[in-house]
Order: sequence, then C-alpha cells, then structure tokens
Amino acid sequence: MTFTIKVNGQTHNVDVDDDTPLLWVLRDVLGMTGTKFGCGLALCGACTVHVDGVATRSCVTPIDSVGTSAITTIEAIGTTSAGARIQKAWLDQEVVQCGYCQSGQIMSAVELLANNSNPSDSDIDDAMSGNICRCGTYIRIREAIKHAAAS
Ligand code: FES
Ligand code: FES
Repeated sequence: MTFTIKVNGQTHNVDVDDDTPLLWVLRDVLGMTGTKFGCGLALCGACTVHVDGVATRSCVTPIDSVGTSAITTIEAIGTTSAGARIQKAWLDQEVVQCGYCQSGQIMSAVELLANNSNPSDSDIDDAMSGNICRCGTYIRIREAIKHAAAS
C-alpha cells in the first residue's frame, strides 16, 4: 500500500505494508539511518523521532497511524532552535561515548527544551527516563541539557 508521509519538511510516497513500523520506513525505505533500532519494544528510546513535535518511539509506530503528521528525525533536528542548542551543548559537553543511543537521547532532550526553557533535574530525569544509555552518559546528558537551556 502506498502512503504519503512528510519527513523533515519533504513529502515521500512509500509502498509498504500498513503495519510497517515508521522506524523501518525511515531507515530501509528512505535511507535515513540516523534513527537507531535498539529493542523494538518501546523500551530503550534509540528509535525516537518527533511526530508533530512529540517524541515518539518509531519502532512501535505503524506507518498507517502517521497520516499527515510532520515527522522530524535526527537528520533535521538541528534546524530547529531547540535542536541547534541541544546539539551544540552535546558537542561542548562531549556527551557521546559509543553514540548508539544518542540520536534518541537528543530527540527526547529537544522535546523537553522546546516545552520547558528551564528544566529542573527532576524535569530532566522525567523526560529522559525512557532513553537508555549502555555507556552511562546520563550525567553528561543532564549537564548538556542545562547548558542548552542557559544558552
Ligand atoms: S528501538 Fe524503539 S524504543 Fe527501543
Ligand atoms: S553513548 Fe553508548 S549507548 Fe549511549
């Protein structure tokens, strides 16, 4: 079945089964491999994208539920104000270790900053609790979010 979806401001026609997860449409059909597969069960956050600005686990989001919503991925999040500040802070604070979880971390952090310009530690913990990092970069992530908020 053909679906017309809007990703990073561009319209794409994709021919996939209606229950195909958005993650696989992004990665395998559109070649946007910045969004990562971790668990496939909405438990790790590696696959997080924005759907109409809301951080969403693309591994459990069937393509037929997306409709005309605006999808934003890590490839374009730096074009938003909050995205640019978060990405700069990530670099300045040297957050990344292996990097695998970081696309999802950044997408969740950007949603937080876009809705809360001065998040507390508890706000940060709440917003980021669904994003797992095997390398344990949590402390640097928290510091980077604070720096982005102050910037
Ligand atoms: S791959 Fe989607 S939450 Fe883990
Ligand atoms: S930086 Fe390695 S899993 Fe998070």
